Amino acid sequence: MAGKEKQVISRDRVTQHGEVLTARREVDAMLDLVKQETERIDSRFLEPACGTGNFLIVILERKLAVIERKLNQKEKKLKKAEKRPGWKAKPFELDSMIALSSIYGIDILEDSIEAARSRLLAFYIETYQRIVGFAPSNELIGSARFILRKNILLGDAINTQDKVSVPGIPGLDQIVFTEWSPIGEFFKRREFRFDSMPMDGADAASAETKKSNQMELFDEPENARQEQILKTDTGKDIMKPSPVKEYPPVHYLKLAEEGEK
Ligand SMILES: C[S@@+](CC[C@H](N)C(=O)[O-])C[C@H]1O[C@@H](n2cnc3c(N)ncnc32)[C@H](O)[C@@H]1O
Repeated sequence: MAGKEKQVISRDRVTQHGEVLTARREVDAMLDLVKQETERIDSRFLEPACGTGNFLIVILERKLAVIERKLNQKEKKLKKAEKRPGWKAKPFELDSMIALSSIYGIDILEDSIEAARSRLLAFYIETYQRIVGFAPSNELIGSARFILRKNILLGDAINTQDKVSVPGIPGLDQIVFTEWSPIGEFFKRREFRFDSMPMDGADAASAETKKSNQMELFDEPENARQEQILKTDTGKDIMKPSPVKEYPPVHYLKLAEEGEK
């Protein structure tokens, strides 16, 4: 299969954007380096140059496989009468929404972003059907599509808006990511500016630069900021970012309906 994978779409795209897509074998090998994390349903992954989603789809695949194994284990303990058709729907829906909402990507090419979102959605629907035994509801598909639209974003992951390499697309200082926090069957949604999120190597000293780059659109008043210094695993100081927007918790089946209001 690896031999048939198309890693180059066009010479122009390679020259202009360095687009050479990673083959499945390499994706698996690289993800194996953080295997434990890929098999935690809620561990968050961000790929800042995600292309058509070659890494993101395998992360989703691994997380959904964990949910499937969990359900199979549970099934073994159920009495015959409890194994009603469709019993897996609810637990799969809740866990898979957590898995899906933990996967993030950015790319500078719009068609790649569209392709990544569609691939993940198609794989999600197909897996649901295989595991649960029937097709997901339109509401669930709407929620999944909404999450993917919020998490897989068009943008320049290197430059701020005044220096973007493709004019008109959002720069670092305009990319806004959503944090999804499950509370039972509800999800709380908070939005953060990408350039305020602590990345590897980020330190407290850069907070001043970040403040001077603040975007007006979702800015909170200065006195509403509650940035705190956190420690990384290696003991380094990093800033805890403040959300630019928060939403009340919404039922997982109503994310699209409520989100579009
Ligand atoms: C080598 S490809 C890798 C794609 C994908 N990660 C994979 O492994 O299949 C590099 C990707 O980076 C994207 N890219 C290039 N410059 C970018 C930028 N400034 N911000 C975001 N994405 C960018 C390209 O469009 C391309 O999809």
